[in-house]
Amino acid sequence: MSHLLSVDQFDIQSIADLFALTEKIETAPRGTYKVASSSVLTNLFYEPSTRTSSSFHSAMARLGGSVISINDVSFSSVSKGETLEDTIQVMAQYSDVIVLRHPDKGSAARAARVSKVPIINGGDGVGEHPTQALLDLYTIHKHKSLDQPLSIALVGDLKHGRTVHSLLKLLRMYDVQIHLVSPPGFLMPPELTQTQDVWHRDLHGCIQDVDVVYMTRVQKERIQDATLLQQISNYGISLELMQLARPDMILMHPLPRVDELPTCLDADPRSKYFEQTGNGLLVRQAIFYSLFGMPIPCWRPVS
Ligand code: NCD
Repeated sequence: MSHLLSVDQFDIQSIADLFALTEKIETAPRGTYKVASSSVLTNLFYEPSTRTSSSFHSAMARLGGSVISINDVSFSSVSKGETLEDTIQVMAQYSDVIVLRHPDKGSAARAARVSKVPIINGGDGVGEHPTQALLDLYTIHKHKSLDQPLSIALVGDLKHGRTVHSLLKLLRMYDVQIHLVSPPGFLMPPELTQTQDVWHRDLHGCIQDVDVVYMTRVQKERIQDATLLQQISNYGISLELMQLARPDMILMHPLPRVDELPTCLDADPRSKYFEQTGNGLLVRQAIFYSLFGMPIPCWRPVS
């Protein structure tokens, strides 16, 4: 089964294959690849989403397929006490692929164990968000060569943010110096770090040196401790910090933003976060193309 649960299912070659497919879709006239014309996607979201659910929806529509959207599970049988496993087994009868977002780490793997159709992990709590990391890497690839040494700052709530967990694993496949920028209570989990990573309390320590700044918001919905939240004030980027950055640095953010990324930076040509959201649509089309238009998908089966 072609579940896509983790970036661990990719290597440099399969990423190159996926990006080649993404570029093919990007440059072809709209409607060229209707490879999903009889396919149905279920978008099953137990947590809020704008970009992930809408871009998967749009990707499926552009490849000719249709979508069942369950974006508010309080209106589904979940509110009657139905388990994730039961909901998945039911929706697998009605659809050919399920994108699942759920607050529990490991939930996508649980769903995959009972599903007869591919599960795509659209974010499992603090675990992973593999398709976001792929679109983030695609955005980096569009502006920087992944064949050259790069330096990247991952900034903000590195403990609870799943996008940085998946992205960091992908970046490890390339020659990338990692700068981890966060207050003490928000550190990257130790199992994801390496001794050569450089740690900073805020961006002043590395903004001059990096090719990419990847901002993240505080994942308030995953934090119960109010004193912890106070620690993270003032870690964001500013006009003043942007003046210290390289002219060819790119500024990224998975969005939504809160106050760590002021809107006054939107006009800076180095800001790529809206372009990133557009790349999400392209990469997700390539993922569906890989599932429905190719004999086997680019990524490895779940081990
Ligand atoms: C991210 C997520 O859900 O983890 N959002 C997204 O998919 N673009 C980031 C976030 O919510 O902060």
